[in-house]
Parts: sequence; C-alpha cells; structure tokens
Amino acid sequence: MNVSADLDSDTGEESETGSDSGLIVAVDGPSGAGKSSASRGAAIELGLRYLDTGSMYRALTWWLLDRGVEVSDAGAVGALAAAPRIEVGTDPRAPWVRVDGTDITSVIRTREVTDAVSAVAAVPRVRAHLIAQQRDIIAHGGGIVAEGRDIGTVVAPDAPVKVYLTAEGAERASRRAAETHRSPAATEIDQDRRDRLDTAQSGKAADAVEIDSTRLSLDQVIDIIVQLAREYSGVPHPRQQSR
Ligand code: DC
Repeated sequence: MNVSADLDSDTGEESETGSDSGLIVAVDGPSGAGKSSASRGAAIELGLRYLDTGSMYRALTWWLLDRGVEVSDAGAVGALAAAPRIEVGTDPRAPWVRVDGTDITSVIRTREVTDAVSAVAAVPRVRAHLIAQQRDIIAHGGGIVAEGRDIGTVVAPDAPVKVYLTAEGAERASRRAAETHRSPAATEIDQDRRDRLDTAQSGKAADAVEIDSTRLSLDQVIDIIVQLAREYSGVPHPRQQSR
C-alpha cells in the first residue's frame, strides 16, 4: 500500500487516554475554523497520534501541478490518483508529508496548491484512494485525532468522539489572512469559493458536537475537545480530579 504513518518514539509522555487506547477523535469543519491547531493541541494533550487528511489531498495536488497535469481534467487526475507514494507523519508535535520520498511539508501550503486542491479533492477516484489510506493509518498504530471534512461522516463514522468546528466567515478569513499575510477581504472571497467547491465532500455527522470557535481562544477549543475525549474514556478532567 502506498502509505506509511510514522509516530516518532519521542512523541512525548502518554496520558490516560494515550495512543495505545485506540481512541479515535474526528474533527471536521470548514477551512480556517482552526481545526489543525486545535487537533494537534488536543492530540498532544491526550497522547494521541494526529492525522491531517487535508495534507494528503494537498500532497497529491502538489505532485500533479509539479508534473503539469491540468487539475480541472478530472479524468487525468483520477487516473493518476494512486501514482505517487504519499506518506504522512502522525506526531502532532511535528507532522510532515512526503511524496515519493521528498519532504513537501511546507510547499503544500502555497497559494498555487491551495487554489488547485478543491478540484483534485472532488474527484471520486482520488477520494476513494486517499480515504482507504486514511482508514489504514487510523486503524493501525493506536489512538488518533484525525481532522478533515468527512472524518466523522465517511472516513471514520464509528469514531466515538466527533467534533464539528466552525467559526464565522469573517473570523475564519482574518485568521487565515494573518497566516498568509494577504488582506482579510481577498482571503474571504477565496475562502467562500473554496467552501462552495468543498461542500459536496464536507459534512457534519449527526452525532458530532459542534464548537463555534469565533469567540474562543485556541486553548479553550483544545480544552473542550480534550474534555469530550476524557468523558468518553471515563477519565475525569484534571480539575475534577483535584477536588
Ligand atoms: O484542510 P485543508 O485546507 O488543508 O484541505 C485541503 C483541501 O482538501 C480542501 O479543498 C478540502 C479537501 N479535503 C477534503 O476534501 N477532505 C478531507 N478529509 C480533508 C480535506
């Protein structure tokens, strides 16, 4: 299988819900809602692995662009979906992505890739291939926080802890703009376009807990996710333990 997932041995101390628990936490939501930072933070606190499924769609998109493939040609994209070897690291402290052995962790965040990735992610053969890889990563190696658009609905519908993370559009755009150094207005236009293109692949599971992060700090969002996971695992929250 064209995939591997590594968790470095120095990932950190295991907590009560740690990676040998097999716990799956699914985090879905639109772009800019803060999924990556919240998922990584929760994974670190819970001692779980971390999977950024968006990075896999980005990796394939980078590889296609590098070869001059027209990403609007769904037939060509679908035919090449399984051609590159995509590997991801699942250490939440230092996630990485490689294509055919080349580290592309940074370049998958460029504007070119961001503008093209929705078209690639909409191709059914791409989804079938990457979802199979994602399920394999989730199933092997212990508990995990997996983030994306369809984790709670399609990739891991049996995940016992599901979060749907949202934020108001203007807030999402201003957070993204702070990262990319573009104007919030231009970012919001791009974001609306991507949201529309990603809608068919995105979903909130009926049993997901919705968190609106508009007026929450990152630490508050992480705390809610950690608490949900601990409640499921029957581990009291540290504040409750100390009483
Ligand atoms: O979260 P992100 O911006 O890195 O995602 C990149 C693209 O991949 C975006 O267009 C949505 C898509 N995606 C998807 O279709 N399914 C997922 N599970 C994750 C991301």
